[in-house]
Amino acid sequence: MTNDSSQQLQADISCIKEIAWGLVSTAALVAAVDLGVAEALESGPRDHRDVARELGADPIALRQLLDALVTRGVFQRLDDGRYTHTGLSLLLRESDPNSVTYLVRWIGHPCFWTLWPHLTDAVRQGKAQSVAVLGKDFFRYIHEDDPAAVDVFNAAMTQASNHTSAEVVKALDLSQAQVVADIGGGQGHLIRTVLDRNPHLKGYLMDLEGVVARALPELRPSGEFADRVTLIGGDCRQEVPAQADVYLLKNILEWDDESTIRTLENVRRSARPGARVVVVETLTDHTPEPQVTTSLDLLLLLNVGGRKHSSEHVAELFARTGIRFDRVRPTGTFLSLAEGTVGA
Ligand SMILES: C[S@@+](CC[C@H](N)C(=O)[O-])C[C@H]1O[C@@H](n2cnc3c(N)ncnc32)[C@H](O)[C@@H]1O
Repeated sequence: MTNDSSQQLQADISCIKEIAWGLVSTAALVAAVDLGVAEALESGPRDHRDVARELGADPIALRQLLDALVTRGVFQRLDDGRYTHTGLSLLLRESDPNSVTYLVRWIGHPCFWTLWPHLTDAVRQGKAQSVAVLGKDFFRYIHEDDPAAVDVFNAAMTQASNHTSAEVVKALDLSQAQVVADIGGGQGHLIRTVLDRNPHLKGYLMDLEGVVARALPELRPSGEFADRVTLIGGDCRQEVPAQADVYLLKNILEWDDESTIRTLENVRRSARPGARVVVVETLTDHTPEPQVTTSLDLLLLLNVGGRKHSSEHVAELFARTGIRFDRVRPTGTFLSLAEGTVGA
């Protein structure tokens, strides 16, 4: 073996080890968020013993946690040994306007640590493993057996929406619309932004009963937007009882195709003639963050038997439900808009 090829081999071994240790990144981020390390460094560089005392943590163990995160660019260690923030670690503060605390907690949630060891089976069978491992469909499981997980999930979706809603609404031309329905809209961050930026519009927010019951306060009865929004709790695979001229489906159709087809058919049935159907998702052929997208793709396989879509796949799903596929538009975020029209 030449010197060059031996060096390359060592580099490859290091690289694959780093990839294989990916689970530590998840665990360390969750621990930092749960302990409140980012808040403790809010006021400037600090010695880890100081921080440990404040957080009720073991000083040596906290230093181990910080060092692991420093090597990943989250927090920084100064020459005098004190720790301080980086751009990444600032996002771990609950109060940061672009906080990712609940996203981190969701990605590292114990329910996924239970599912990941079954990825091999999921790939062999091309099937979700929730029923085999958790005893029931994933969303049924968290809603019935782990309500605290639902709270983390909803808060994570709201944080994710907070990173993109303003840009998504900017990219949507809603000047000709009167009524916009957000199907599977979670706690309503997107529809709230739609209504806020378009005072002429009325809206619907549809999601599962338990989720709309926890919609953002501004959307609930007596909230700022209460007279312009109707909350619908229900299963969009059964029906979509909202007559609108724009339907937003953001990050919901990535479950199994049969559920998607049923949802799109229900949208088509309720829609006003000429209504727009806008699928708001990270499309595999337009993603600026391929590792995040493919990670989510595998998670969707594992928990709901779903997948991320390409533009072509959305076009095919539209065609199967009688919706004309019009175009894909960028939003300036990792999300794209795949737009279609319901025939007259
Ligand atoms: C990945 S989240 C996306 C939430 C929101 N659209 C967003 O982008 O922040 C998927 C949403 O679909 C909702 N959902 C799942 N199954 C549903 C169903 N059968 N009917 C209506 N909503 C459903 C979930 O409760 C959740 O809020």
